[in-house]
Amino acid sequence: MKLVKAIVRPSTLSDVLRALYAADITGLTVSNVRGHGGEVEVVGTYRGTTAKMELQDKIMIDIGISDDFVDIAVDAICKSAFTGNVGDGKIFVLPVERVIRVRTREEDMAAVTPVR
Ligand SMILES: Nc1ncnc2c1ncn2[C@@H]1O[C@H](COP(=O)(O)OP(=O)(O)OP(=O)(O)O)[C@@H](O)[C@H]1O
Ligand SMILES: [Mg+2]
Repeated sequence: MKLVKAIVRPSTLSDVLRALYAADITGLTVSNVRGHGGEVEVVGTYRGTTAKMELQDKIMIDIGISDDFVDIAVDAICKSAFTGNVGDGKIFVLPVERVIRVRTREEDMAAVTPVR
């Protein structure tokens, strides 16, 4: 099992959700976050120049998923979140030790597959 953590532009959220849904990926959490993706803007000040780190509004999508679905999820997100400009987003894939569905106490693989 993996946790796919995708940080994307807010403007792409509905397309990303649609693409994930089309790929049968429906168990997920969406958060409003702020982040920085490396671009350093150099600004002039009265004392000289300083590097400014502006935080951008982003959307974070967390998806607990079986290993077989990771590439499908990554592909769906990359296609639907793409504009071609810097800042389109980033995807982290983390190992997951344990997943428990509260209602049934099902665990792991049985718990990451949503009940339809
Ligand atoms: N190394 C990182 N660790 C944690 N979060 C990150 C990291 N890099 C980017 N992020 C998050 O992802 C968001 C989008 O990053 P961004 O798309 O700018 O990545 P990038 O690697 O700089 O790609 P690009 O070259 O397209 O800008 C950032 O605003 C930040 O929230
Ligand atoms: Mg960046």
